[in-house]
Amino acid sequence: MEIEAFRQHAHAMVDWMADYMAGVERFPVRAQTAPGTVAATVPASPPQGPESIAAIMSDFERDILPGVTHWQHPRFFAYFPANSSPPSVLAEMLTATIGAQCMLWQTSPAGTELETRVTEWLRQMIGLPEGLHGVIQDSASSAILCAILTARERATGWRVNESGMAGGPAIVVYTSDQTHSATEKGAKVAGLGRENVRLIETDPETFAMRPQALEAAILADKAAGRLPACLVANLGATGVGAMDDLEALGAIAEAHGLFAHVDAAWAGSALILEEHRHLLRGVERFDSFVFNPHKWLMTNFDCSAHFVKAPEDLIRTLSILPPFLQSREHGAVIDYRDWSVPLGRRFRALKLWFVIRSYGVDGLKRIIRNHIAWAEDLERRIAAAPDFDLMAPRQLSLLNFRFAPAGAGDLDALNGRLLEAINDDGFTYLTQNRVKGQFTIRFQIGQTATEARHVTEAWDRVRTIARALPL
Ligand SMILES: Cc1ncc(COP(=O)(O)O)c(C=O)c1O
Repeated sequence: MEIEAFRQHAHAMVDWMADYMAGVERFPVRAQTAPGTVAATVPASPPQGPESIAAIMSDFERDILPGVTHWQHPRFFAYFPANSSPPSVLAEMLTATIGAQCMLWQTSPAGTELETRVTEWLRQMIGLPEGLHGVIQDSASSAILCAILTARERATGWRVNESGMAGGPAIVVYTSDQTHSATEKGAKVAGLGRENVRLIETDPETFAMRPQALEAAILADKAAGRLPACLVANLGATGVGAMDDLEALGAIAEAHGLFAHVDAAWAGSALILEEHRHLLRGVERFDSFVFNPHKWLMTNFDCSAHFVKAPEDLIRTLSILPPFLQSREHGAVIDYRDWSVPLGRRFRALKLWFVIRSYGVDGLKRIIRNHIAWAEDLERRIAAAPDFDLMAPRQLSLLNFRFAPAGAGDLDALNGRLLEAINDDGFTYLTQNRVKGQFTIRFQIGQTATEARHVTEAWDRVRTIARALPL
């Protein structure tokens, strides 16, 4: 494509993008397509000759767009948010255009140095202790994998990296029964085996990991000749937003020499609000911490902020230095390739730099504080509705509830039907969870474009759909 043609298409594309942002409310939130519908519109083999951008865009609107679930819809209350925002999109345009690989300092000095600076900004913004060093990963799953790998190597004196797992004791990871599946996946990928992941029981009221149960499990593993190596604690686990007591858990991890990591993938962004900083009490006892600006800090996926106390341990765990990756600055600068599993890295720091400067910390605080205030309001409405039950304490902007009208029989089945009806309706999008074995509906507020009215409208629609369901 000639550059002048690109210029024209890009201008038109920006108009499309702005129209989409302004008009996303007109779409159903969850795609209303049946499986296979989009695939059926795409030829089985690629085109041999060139096609015009006009033709491609027209097919995009006709065939692809109807199969899109609109994560930036202001009534998207499913899963956790995956924020986008206008300044973040602008930065992504630059990132895509420059197309730099930021694996070595030399391959993008600006990418490297900006990453160091903006992760330091983030550290200050959420109140993490000094002395933690930041790196941007593609996902919290990658950060958790890095934690498990570093734990594995530290616990074995860097032996597994050299000679593999064979012959050594089982290496054990501890986390809670509330933890995101990323920890189990990390243990599988790291070769530890899911049998060596202990899902420590949680308090039935707060859903926080029980410290005594953690210590008992560590002692039992030691007595059986296994090697306790890693603790993954939660700040805002996915189901009900469980918050672990970092002080108590960190003390146990220290006493038993475990590498300790905090998964704050979702809740970490809320720590820019001073009123929630108490959740960090004890974090100085931990070796690493992750949160996702790509969830709730108005920054496009992928952007996971990973902080480590001892970068040298992470680097020793992951570093490789083939001749083709050597550079004359090696050792004198940061080469982030040694801080993450993939070698190639996008210029992710740019979007954080745009977002933080464009909103200012105060602007970001205002948005997240609003989300939490609207969730409090929704909590009051649900509590006041005679035919709905709150199923867990609200955490920040996350609620779990279910429809429980008098005389209904199987509430799990009823709420399953309700959720399908809500999502088939398309006005809002919610997802399910289980709390103490019971089916619940999750409602989280965290979209960039959400206003108070969207929450109220969605709740009104949920009640209307629920009350029309045959019991
Ligand atoms: C608490 C928690 N941890 C980890 C993850 C995994 O995040 P990622 O998609 O960045 O790997 C999620 C995803 O929603 C999560 O909710």
